[in-house]
Amino acid sequence: MELARTGPGEGSTPPRARLNSSAPRQSLNGTWEFRLDQGEWTTIPVPSHWVLEGHGKPAYTNVRYPFAIDPPHPPDENPIGDYRLTFDAADAFLDGAVLRFDGIESAAEIRLNGQLLGTTRGSRLTHEFAADLRATGNVLEVRVAQFSDASYLEDQDMWWLPGIFRDVDLVATPAGGLRDVFAVADFDPGARTGTVTIRTSAPARLRIPELGVDRDVHDSVVPVGTVDPWSAETPRLYAATVSTDVEEISLRLGFRRVEVRDSVLTLNGNPIQFRGVNRHEHHPERGRVVSLADARAELELMKRHHVNAVRTSHYPPAPGFLDLTDELGFYVILECDLETHGFVEVGWRGNPSDDPAWQGAYLDRMQRTVHRDKNHASVVIWSLGNESGTGTNLEAMAAWTRAFDPSRLIHYEHDWASTYVDLYSRMYASHEEVKQIGEEVLTPPPFDATPAELHRRALPFIQCEYAHAMGNGPGGLEEYQDLFDRYPRLAGGFIWEWVEHGLAVTTDGRREIRYGGDFGEDVHDGNFVTDGLVSADREVRPGLTALAHWYAPVRIEVTGSTIRIRNRYDHRDLGHVTFRWRTESADGVLDVPPAAPGRTVEVPLPPRASGPLVTVEAVADDEHVLGSGQLTRFAPTARPAPTTLPDRAAFDPASMRLRTLGGLALDGPMVSLWRAPTDNDRYPGWDEPDLPPYAERWTEAGIDRLRTRLVSADEVDGALRTVHRSAPPGRDFAVDSEFRWHQVSPDALLLDVVVTPRGPWPVEWARLGLDLVVPGAPAGLDWSGLGPGPAYPDLAAGVRYGSWHAEAAELSTPYVRPQESGARRGVRSAVVTTSAGQLRVTVVGEDEIAVTVSPWSRALIASTLHHHELVADGRTYVSLDLAQSGVGTAACGPGVLQRYRLPARLARVSLLLEASAV
Ligand code: GAL
Repeated sequence: MELARTGPGEGSTPPRARLNSSAPRQSLNGTWEFRLDQGEWTTIPVPSHWVLEGHGKPAYTNVRYPFAIDPPHPPDENPIGDYRLTFDAADAFLDGAVLRFDGIESAAEIRLNGQLLGTTRGSRLTHEFAADLRATGNVLEVRVAQFSDASYLEDQDMWWLPGIFRDVDLVATPAGGLRDVFAVADFDPGARTGTVTIRTSAPARLRIPELGVDRDVHDSVVPVGTVDPWSAETPRLYAATVSTDVEEISLRLGFRRVEVRDSVLTLNGNPIQFRGVNRHEHHPERGRVVSLADARAELELMKRHHVNAVRTSHYPPAPGFLDLTDELGFYVILECDLETHGFVEVGWRGNPSDDPAWQGAYLDRMQRTVHRDKNHASVVIWSLGNESGTGTNLEAMAAWTRAFDPSRLIHYEHDWASTYVDLYSRMYASHEEVKQIGEEVLTPPPFDATPAELHRRALPFIQCEYAHAMGNGPGGLEEYQDLFDRYPRLAGGFIWEWVEHGLAVTTDGRREIRYGGDFGEDVHDGNFVTDGLVSADREVRPGLTALAHWYAPVRIEVTGSTIRIRNRYDHRDLGHVTFRWRTESADGVLDVPPAAPGRTVEVPLPPRASGPLVTVEAVADDEHVLGSGQLTRFAPTARPAPTTLPDRAAFDPASMRLRTLGGLALDGPMVSLWRAPTDNDRYPGWDEPDLPPYAERWTEAGIDRLRTRLVSADEVDGALRTVHRSAPPGRDFAVDSEFRWHQVSPDALLLDVVVTPRGPWPVEWARLGLDLVVPGAPAGLDWSGLGPGPAYPDLAAGVRYGSWHAEAAELSTPYVRPQESGARRGVRSAVVTTSAGQLRVTVVGEDEIAVTVSPWSRALIASTLHHHELVADGRTYVSLDLAQSGVGTAACGPGVLQRYRLPARLARVSLLLEASAV
């Protein structure tokens, strides 16, 4: 098997559109014979990846190739899988058929009845081979190499997962049928009319019943009169057929026009904003074998979180996905299967992108990408690939694409000169830089601007990746969204990334989620592969809840007397939205005047909407909430009248830590400044590349292991006063905490806290908290504050004030690699329930705290590598935080923005603590 070529695969028929045809099709999916490396024959399901079916192991790398950079040669250690299927073919396939492979990683040789049909290159690209079949006993043999020359072009940040992992079909190609159809349904925003420009491989009849179209076409332009346009907000599709005497193709036409006007991205004449995500195909058990039902569920979940755009990072998805995005309404950047990122490790020496020997392979990849999905309304942009450096082969791909399909825009991020693309695209650009890019076009270009600069300035800007959703985060979403909303040139962006690529392994009946390095790989990138808004099982991570707020189509602000409602749709009014308000004692529906796309309207706050908390919600017909806002007018919590001095016996005599309250054996409070590092804390922010990550700075300063000394204990103004100094070992900076204890009732203590930093603190804190250990396993938390989910200072959207309850399992987020999580913010009172009793905390006055309740200590969380390895010790760890640092997105992108950092500072709070034992 020849695996060291630089060209495309050979022998397949020219790429064409995926057609929904009346011609017979027979799925060849199912159980195939299989052997690895010429071993014993066994069986395997197709589609699947053999490494997930017990043959070898998956391996994860981000940038680095797991083999030497010696193009076009694959390594000698190169698993080869042999597949064999014997099948019968119905009569319909005997007069012309193709064998269609939608995805084989990484290179295959196809044989039918002993005859070589050809080879494939392009793991996520469709290949078809003309098949001369007999009625019975056809033998299809597919030899698949895990690595090949193609692997140099497929260095995406994901698992290496070989095998026939997408559908295999037999498709009849009847004589007199249609080999290919290319239909562009254009919308003229001025006239509000549509035109179908259609090219068919043979003369055919076009019918669009709803538009009264019934005519012959071949290479034709068909005006269709007034139409409703397609957009992600209004995914209007018209059923059409293209037929010959022997074959009928069904199309769904969405009329739309995507255009750049004065560096603004428009659809149907209106500026649009991508509220997007990057989507890989991933399933925790099946790898990149993702069913249509799973894809639909994913898209519906995205819709519920107001996502309107998907970049198919970094390859074309299984073909049915695009039917769904047409129908459900998503803008799609369809990306070619191409990435050569590993060449960055050698300064891009030998990068195939600039080597003419590879040009055929590059063009073939782009042509396969464009042809297959060219009839989809949702595809508005073609992307040449990801992180492949710069070079003439990319230019050639762009030139071919532009000539073939001028109806769509061309995207490629890695060449910042942007000479051959239609969008200026970057990834993880900081807020300042995005702002500067937004502002750049508001002033005339410099006199000496080169033509290339002038071209780039004329382009709209997108962040094809931003806000890296790894672990607890991403912070900074609000600030990005503000910029996207403020500057017309900024057409939004795509979060990195939608789904985590954790792989599930079941051992002893227990299902565990694994990441890079867990399969014995010697070169790997650890848990960088689990960085999604949803887990591999599609559980919503808190980052998605926050994102949904910023992506929501309706923004509501409630002030003392007014409700401001902003329509953030680009194409729709708010006619389908009901606006409801409610307080604790009343509710009603608002009468809201029509608001055109992008417009804000104001209505008065109804007089009955009085009281401490007013919530206003925009609700769609299906009860889905499209936006909400709140007004809070909380009265300060009264300070209880102190009664007596606390009994000293309740305190540990040496440390003066509280040991018992209401019969419950507590331990605390202890001042705490550290958190179990989040994934973001473990990487240096791109804004501070020369500084170590926060996790290291904190350990270096020693705040993960504060030592506390009792300074004094005395009685002052009827209170027991204890003063404690907490400092890292070997350091002379400290925090002093003064606690004044008052007994309010036998089971209740009032605690006034003042925390004062001492000395020059070399690092910002992670938190400023009071930690208590409570006996018994956590059983739940009730609180009044922001909820229902967790929130951090720069990730505090999508939560609202109310009274909430969380079950024990909801108190922390099961990130694949354990880390700080679960803080409930804006808390004014809380009840922590454990198997041993209850601790009630009420914040006196106007302050709010954050409360984190966990079955694990921070030290344990920080030192445990997988969620399933966390073992609870039967106690409950409670943190009452006076302040917290934000979480940022330093794992890829800027760290915590200055305003969300927590420099050493003085803080005060007064708390009423009540406890009871069961
Ligand atoms: C980008 C890349 C993505 C992913 C991300 C980090 O550079 O395009 O594929 O690696 O970084 O998770």
